[in-house]
Amino acid sequence: MEIVKRFIVFEGVDGSGTSTQLELLNGEPGVWTTCEPTDGPIGRLIRSALRGKTTLRPETLALLFAADRTEHLFAKDGVIERCSRGETVVSDRYTLSSMVYQGVLCGDLPFNLNKDFPLPELLFFFDIDPRIAAQRMESRPVREIYEYIEFQELVRDRYKTLAPQWRQKGVRVAVIDASEPIAIVAREIMREIDAL
Ligand code: TYD
Repeated sequence: MEIVKRFIVFEGVDGSGTSTQLELLNGEPGVWTTCEPTDGPIGRLIRSALRGKTTLRPETLALLFAADRTEHLFAKDGVIERCSRGETVVSDRYTLSSMVYQGVLCGDLPFNLNKDFPLPELLFFFDIDPRIAAQRMESRPVREIYEYIEFQELVRDRYKTLAPQWRQKGVRVAVIDASEPIAIVAREIMREIDAL
């Protein structure tokens, strides 16, 4: 399986702090911070479904995440093009999110849809008790369809099983204690990135 050099991915349950850490990397020279779902047309449709404004079958969402990802990777100025011209790309979520979240509801479908996407060089798994993560999200105005504790517990369990398996594919996997303060997590991330 192809590994994309300088491609870094953040993964974790909702409220684990991936967006906060991504924000801290924003503006670093030579670094492009990005996320999935993207802000492209398919990503916007996905966000509408996540907020419950559009009702879609879980399988349809799995297909849309894979379609959004295809654009994110392979479109002009996308992940692949940027990494190959020497930029470092850090994405808030990638294929493991689909295997974890859609895997809960759609069985093997997300594995089949995502197995051929190229792999990142470094994967951060932000590990945290979903109850602590939920407390952090209390002030957020909108609730999304996956943001309830029973689902997030399943999500964390799946991450714990699946993230370490990426090592066998040749991906460097860093498990971060995401309950630590923001500055400590940031330092840990910089240490791993510098080690690349
Ligand atoms: P998130 O990354 O937390 O962004 P925001 O803070 O803007 O809500 O939300 C994205 C949600 O989408 C999150 O619940 C995980 C989910 N998701 C999937 O279910 N599958 C995927 O493939 C991706 C990329 C995200």
